[in-house]
Amino acid sequence: MSTASTTSTWSVEVPTPAAMADLGRRLAPLLTPAAVALLAGPLGGGKTTLVRAVAEALGAGGLVRSPSFDLVHRHPLPDGRWLYHVDLYRLGDAVPDPDTLDVWDPDGIILVEWGAPWARWFPDRLELAIAVRDDHRTVTVTAFGALLERFRVWRRRV
Ligand SMILES: Nc1ncnc2c1ncn2[C@@H]1O[C@H](COP(=O)(O)OP(=O)(O)OP(=O)(O)O)[C@@H](O)[C@H]1O
Ligand SMILES: [Mg+2]
Repeated sequence: MSTASTTSTWSVEVPTPAAMADLGRRLAPLLTPAAVALLAGPLGGGKTTLVRAVAEALGAGGLVRSPSFDLVHRHPLPDGRWLYHVDLYRLGDAVPDPDTLDVWDPDGIILVEWGAPWARWFPDRLELAIAVRDDHRTVTVTAFGALLERFRVWRRRV
């Protein structure tokens, strides 16, 4: 009987915004050339900070700020592809599918704050879960589906 696992996980302590920037630099090759990452964590946990760090590491154009009100920000990447920064928080239980929000791009890097409701649309994805306890942050990365193999290769290098 096969016992191959269908997910894989890695965690790191992220004590400061500077450490978050470092994590963004480390995650950049995992998200390249294209990937979907769903971010979870409490209000003010550092999701936007992590997206900003990834975007900077990838050389994305434009200011990375919270898309809480306009839902989706698109940032051009140096190679002509797009980085999508999405925040589903404001939608509550009324989350539309990614296509309705014009976020369906197999060549894109799609980073979604409060992204758990989109898991069913993206079987091949990363989940970036921020946990905060006594102002002490941990980020856990979990890979699913077709991203598993890329994740395993990446993990051997970090
Ligand atoms: N690793 C970290 N250590 C300490 N503080 C951090 C860390 N990452 C982010 N912060 C700080 O936490 C605050 C909130 O960060 P941020 O806006 O990124 O959170 P968020 O999860 O996107 O919030 P929201 O739930 O409102 O979308 C900011 O002041 C940021 O500088
Ligand atoms: Mg945010």
